[in-house]
Amino acid sequence: MNEIIISPSILSADFMNLEKEIVKVQNAGADWIHIDVMDGHFVPNISIGVPVVKSIRKKTDMFLDTHLMIENPEKYIEAFAKAGSDLITFHVEACENETQANRVIDLIKSCGKKTGISIKPNTKPEAVFPYLDKVDLVLVMTVEPGFGGQEFMHDCALKIPRLKENANERLIIQVDGGINNLTAKICLSLGANSLVAGSFIYNSENVAKVINDLKNKR
Ligand code: DX5
Ligand code: ZN
Repeated sequence: MNEIIISPSILSADFMNLEKEIVKVQNAGADWIHIDVMDGHFVPNISIGVPVVKSIRKKTDMFLDTHLMIENPEKYIEAFAKAGSDLITFHVEACENETQANRVIDLIKSCGKKTGISIKPNTKPEAVFPYLDKVDLVLVMTVEPGFGGQEFMHDCALKIPRLKENANERLIIQVDGGINNLTAKICLSLGANSLVAGSFIYNSENVAKVINDLKNKR
């Protein structure tokens, strides 16, 4: 897969003007919209949930990349699928064992959605090796999930080549946390093909330039 998928995280958007904020990145060349769902248990923060995804779906036909940072993902997959998520990414750490992770993957697939599995900074890439042929995307967190605007953790990027070595051609390797021009270049050169960026995109005066620059970092 050669194309680089840029997925702006609306966590850094102005929620009072969410429709405008989405249209802004769409017009600026964003490929997907990244929606960070936090439950206050899996991560020490609470963000947005199903009703917001539903409202976004009514206003845009963009691909909705939904990052579930929640406990018990199984319980909520169908709701997010119905609300209009296109890709549902859950955390391997939110599952007790392989059986449970496989159940979540099967459930997402049975809803007709693309499947993603994510690892936090302290989780080894091997934790997702059993699922690499079953999922569409692996999300490598390069900050502790929970907040936007944190510093990129360089060690985490070294998981990218480990995943790439063990993955098939079509697996999307996405990176999330602390992405800017410099860290994007590092991740893309290590083999990532999708970048999530929140503060770097939404704090910028020239969103089209920022997105275009990120796409041309390889
Ligand atoms: C963090 C979220 C990220 C976050 C990234 O828990 O998963 O998607 O919005 O924000 P930046 O790009 O500002 O690090
Ligand atoms: Zn995210």
